[in-house]
Amino acid sequence: MSESMQDTPKLNQVVEKKVLNSVTKKLTIYAPDIAVKAHAGQFVIFKVRQDSERIPLTLSSWDKEKGTISHIFQEVGYSTIELGKLHVDDKIMHIAGPLGNASEIENFGTAVVVCGGLGTAVAYPVAKALKEAGNKVISIVGARNKDLFILENEMKAVSSEIYFTTDDGSNGTKGFVSDVLKSLIAKKEKIDIVFAIGPPIMMSVIADLTRPHKIRTIASLNPIMVDGMGMCGACRVSIDGKTQFACVDGPEFDAHKVNFKELMLRLKSYCTEENNLSLAYQKPGENNCQCHGH
Ligand code: FES
Repeated sequence: MSESMQDTPKLNQVVEKKVLNSVTKKLTIYAPDIAVKAHAGQFVIFKVRQDSERIPLTLSSWDKEKGTISHIFQEVGYSTIELGKLHVDDKIMHIAGPLGNASEIENFGTAVVVCGGLGTAVAYPVAKALKEAGNKVISIVGARNKDLFILENEMKAVSSEIYFTTDDGSNGTKGFVSDVLKSLIAKKEKIDIVFAIGPPIMMSVIADLTRPHKIRTIASLNPIMVDGMGMCGACRVSIDGKTQFACVDGPEFDAHKVNFKELMLRLKSYCTEENNLSLAYQKPGENNCQCHGH
């Protein structure tokens, strides 16, 4: 399903809405001041209405000429469900951004981008920027099953090599993204840097894989955020034993120094509420809670 606007858009107005699969939507919004400053790895905070919660969402793409920004998200809680109900022409009350540090992009040589699930939406602009900087980009994209892939063609377009994996084998290799990386390392593929973007358990496994080989590895962290400006402390993470704030110090960090156990524990804080809400809104069997997954 897709809706798009014909008239000249107003600030913060939804200009396009797409349903990418049963659990994922994409909104494109007219926000020219953000589009012109946007870089891969950054995010914005939405407030749909006056009394809405703040929703941090990473920029999936942007168009400086059209003045638009795009975000891909799953409806896993009250706020993302509210966002998903918006239609073309609807206006978002407030958007702050771009926030966070841009990804560190340079010509590293061979860069492997490993992403899973919704992480592909965050990984795509990173892979694109790496390609534009002259890297050989090897992408490894995972999903639970073939119906949950997003941005397949976009990822193919910015990758020199691409591998797909599914938990059930319905597309690509049966297994996890880490299995493919493991086999690339075993084959002595030259790898200069790895970007791991997805559920914390996946990023943790990737970090454990690359650590003994001393392959520089970057993880894009997704802790709970509130203000997105370094004041509330909600997004605190432990990096090499020191507290850092993902919103202003990240969201990307050296994966070998991240305390993933603590991150996963903190992310579980609202898991029960998200699951209860999911049961009320989703088909039987679906569970989009981000606390689990590979
Ligand atoms: S979200 Fe509040 S300090 Fe980062």
